[in-house]
Amino acid sequence: MFINFWYPAIASAELTDKPVKVRMLGLNFVVFRDSKGKAQCLSNVCTHRGGNLAGGKLHGDCIACPYHGWQFNGAGECVKIPSIGKDGKIPARTRIDAYPVEEKYGLVFAFLGDLPEAERPPIMPIEEYGADGWRSTIQHWVWDIDYKRSIENGIDSAHNEFVHPTHGFSGTRDDYKLNEPEMWTDEWGTGIRNKRLAPPLKDEKMREASGRNVDAVVESSTGHHGIAAVWTHIHPMPNMFIHQYLYECPIDATHTSIYLINMRNFLLEPEHDGRMMERNQVVAFQDRDVLTDVQPKLTPHTQTKEAFVLHDKPIARYRQWLDEWQARGWRIDVETIERNRMTTAYAIPSPARRQHKGWVIDAVPLLSARDAVKAAAE
Ligand code: FES
Ligand SMILES: [Fe+2]
Repeated sequence: MFINFWYPAIASAELTDKPVKVRMLGLNFVVFRDSKGKAQCLSNVCTHRGGNLAGGKLHGDCIACPYHGWQFNGAGECVKIPSIGKDGKIPARTRIDAYPVEEKYGLVFAFLGDLPEAERPPIMPIEEYGADGWRSTIQHWVWDIDYKRSIENGIDSAHNEFVHPTHGFSGTRDDYKLNEPEMWTDEWGTGIRNKRLAPPLKDEKMREASGRNVDAVVESSTGHHGIAAVWTHIHPMPNMFIHQYLYECPIDATHTSIYLINMRNFLLEPEHDGRMMERNQVVAFQDRDVLTDVQPKLTPHTQTKEAFVLHDKPIARYRQWLDEWQARGWRIDVETIERNRMTTAYAIPSPARRQHKGWVIDAVPLLSARDAVKAAAE
């Protein structure tokens, strides 16, 4: 798992007037709205004696720890220690890690890392979100898989034919062959564009909307953006667009929280949302069922223990990205954290760690480029 990316913590609609405990990257966070409704995200471990902040109550802009009532604001500063009275001096090292938060596309994103703003990989953009002629839906699943398996599945064009019977021919056409995809990389990821023969859409309403009843060559493109986000643009007809955006977050190394924002430019009336979402869920669960059973559970660190062919090229490239981000010092040393789980509470380092010294909670240990063997255990 990696620090220094934006991760989806919770859906905006689910964050109301109560603090919520959210597990990300194997650690706990508390997410809450301050008095102005702005979402805030802090490490969940109270710097006093380890209280569970998410179990506390909100007081204006602060979360109060349920153990001795210390109050922390959205910047992670302790602003009240009831036991020392209002004139008591609050020690600076009571500070808790606070993470940058952005609310976008119906999601609350937290930047889990210490990079200054200008250096942060951006949230994967949805250009058409909120634009005329588009309709969005949002769905959420939690799966027992390594998030990397899911991202690799997102950029794997050869599985469609077999995992999703409605998308392909399920291996029944002897003349079927996948073209070599056009592949490119940008600053934060790798994309591919594909033209493939596809049967007509199975959903009657969608088929009517597409106006296509015969097999045809369909263009689609897909790619990952950063460590755990995938975009897919499918154009079943030149004027019919389905754009899907998966924002994923490792709950821990083998559990993944997945948000799907689906954008469509047809059947725009809300009454079609339910059917679209049902369709998406059927397809998503087909992926889930395959991914839950792959072995080993954790994505191998190298390609030598899996036999890659032409269409696995984007996956090989994704693994190279992981090495590059590890070389920047962003990969968490999960093995060490596991070993110390009973004795040490950890936090993801926040941007304030670059300004302030003397933190009570240890920052998670990180791997260097040379720790390849350890990374395999993540
Ligand atoms: S442990 Fe949180 S206030 Fe004491
Ligand atoms: Fe799939």
